[in-house]
Amino acid sequence: MISEDELRALELLKNNTKIATLNGKTYRRTPPSEHYYLHQFFWDSCTHAMGLVYYDPQWAYEELASLLAAQWENGFIGHIIYSEDEKRYFPTKELWGTEKFSQKSFVSSGFIQPPLLAISLNHIDEVLHDKGEKTDGVDSLIAGVVRYHNYLKRFRDREDSGLLTIIHPWESGCDNSPRWDSVMESIDLKTIPQRIIDLVRTNRKDISASTELNRPRAEYYYRYLYLIDVYKQQQWDTDAILDITPFAVKDVQVSSIWAKANQSLAAIMKRRGRIKEADYFSSLAEQTNETIRKCWNEKAHSYANFDVSHGQKKPIYSDDFANFMPLYSHAASDKQVTALLTQLSDPQKYWTKYPVPSVSPKSPFFEITRYWRGPTWPIVNLFILEGLKGYTAHKQCQKLFKELVKKTADMIRTIGFYETYDPNTGLADTYKDTFSGMGYADFSWSAAIYLYLKNKYPEIVR
Ligand code: GLC
Repeated sequence: MISEDELRALELLKNNTKIATLNGKTYRRTPPSEHYYLHQFFWDSCTHAMGLVYYDPQWAYEELASLLAAQWENGFIGHIIYSEDEKRYFPTKELWGTEKFSQKSFVSSGFIQPPLLAISLNHIDEVLHDKGEKTDGVDSLIAGVVRYHNYLKRFRDREDSGLLTIIHPWESGCDNSPRWDSVMESIDLKTIPQRIIDLVRTNRKDISASTELNRPRAEYYYRYLYLIDVYKQQQWDTDAILDITPFAVKDVQVSSIWAKANQSLAAIMKRRGRIKEADYFSSLAEQTNETIRKCWNEKAHSYANFDVSHGQKKPIYSDDFANFMPLYSHAASDKQVTALLTQLSDPQKYWTKYPVPSVSPKSPFFEITRYWRGPTWPIVNLFILEGLKGYTAHKQCQKLFKELVKKTADMIRTIGFYETYDPNTGLADTYKDTFSGMGYADFSWSAAIYLYLKNKYPEIVR
């Protein structure tokens, strides 16, 4: 029997879904929210499929198939696949100058997002496999996923370091995180052409659709759009961009997801007896995990990301959730896990009433309302809880895993399907002693994550 909460989540997803057509094929795909994000977003959709597979595997495939249908010649897949006639979003599709690389009406942005595709596909494969159902849909998507991984390896890890390079904060999915502040601030506002400033001033729509308190500050928005403009002039040639960009970061969060994605692709291959390919993707995952382990700084008790713009290699430390991401790909060593758990389980830091805040309330950069600078995100919790689960020999990991599954599902169920949630530290006046959903309402991501948790962990989410 499907519960009322599940029905509510499914109803929301259905309401947010749009049908798109390319080359005579139709795709059901689900933008994050009718209130603002009206196009398909890469890592949101990968997560939607992970919840939807329990109810409608065909819909789950279509979410991923739509992303793959938008794949460029070089294997790249954009973080936004634009809905054809939708104009109520900024930046518009015309602004990217990507039409000539895109697949006809499936015009995309020029940025990646965290590479969740293989993770999602593997999850679908596992669920169907366990139910003894056919997996032809998975089979048909494998080649595109391999091409995508080849793009990432070739263009985003030119040094063969194991870590991926991102060229814009939006590529991390954590657009406004303080992790990017030093690199963003190295871009002098005076160098940004007035036409970009004017473009942002006249067209920015996110602040009229939500409260300004939740959204990035103007000086960051100018830089976001400036970088797009610089890359457009490079014709979205990744090599050329990497040679000149002021924003290039080897990021531990994205790289942990990259390692997990390679483990997932290896698992997909292994299930099909494609052992050589399975070994190759496992070796990529191993390489990444090994490098991540070495990024740990004993004094800072955190992992270093690296600003690699203009040939430099400057460590960036940030007291944000990304430090827990190496749990997800099982990169963290035993010693690192112990140090991480001390931070994660501290109620003054990350184990707030509604964990896990995106930035520690103890950090000087914490802002309770501003997105990616404090609020709790269900997707972050999903990564951390799955990571904790993998450390089977650690009793505390198992305990926190169960608690986090329960807390996340309860939070979404009782508060509603919002984009982000107040971690309830009582630090921000506006939200003092309240617990309110923040960001945009009727959010597909949160609904899908609820469905995923409910089905994957029925003994914990009742
Ligand atoms: C925001 C988030 C990004 C997400 C998008 C749609 O831009 O920062 O990670 O994909 O919203 O939900």
